[in-house]
Amino acid sequence: NIQRRSYHEKVIDHYERPRNVGSMAKNDTDVGTGLVGAPACGDVMKLQIRVDPDTQRISDVKFKTFGCGSAIASSSYLTELVQGMTLEEAARIRNTEIAKELCLPPVKLHCSMLAEDAIKSAISNYYVTNPTHKPTSLAGT
Ligand code: FES
Ligand code: FES
Repeated sequence: NIQRRSYHEKVIDHYERPRNVGSMAKNDTDVGTGLVGAPACGDVMKLQIRVDPDTQRISDVKFKTFGCGSAIASSSYLTELVQGMTLEEAARIRNTEIAKELCLPPVKLHCSMLAEDAIKSAISNYYVTNPTHKPTSLAGT
């Protein structure tokens, strides 16, 4: 059990009922997989997005986080946030938005950074498999 007093209630809610936990087939060409680690603590996050080939919007998201409560909450919240977004929109998400929503204290900022890194990594992985789908605005990312 996590220490309730040191966590905001939104963190506890996502930690106890994490949304969209799971994984998708890595070799599915509509799926992008991001796998990132936090150097500060060694926590690891895997995030997968399924991109609708027609609309180029995120139609499904799954995550697995081996980490602290704030990292789990950050990834759970992120999966709700990116549903239905275009990849350009999702690539613009900043960890500070996540940290603000979850009221993370400064020492837990890197936990939300893990979520930002994970979505970026999933997006670039998707473009590795689908290079022709990459918009010019994301060239070089
Ligand atoms: Fe141990 Fe994040 S430092 S769970
Ligand atoms: Fe490292 Fe939270 S303490 S991800």
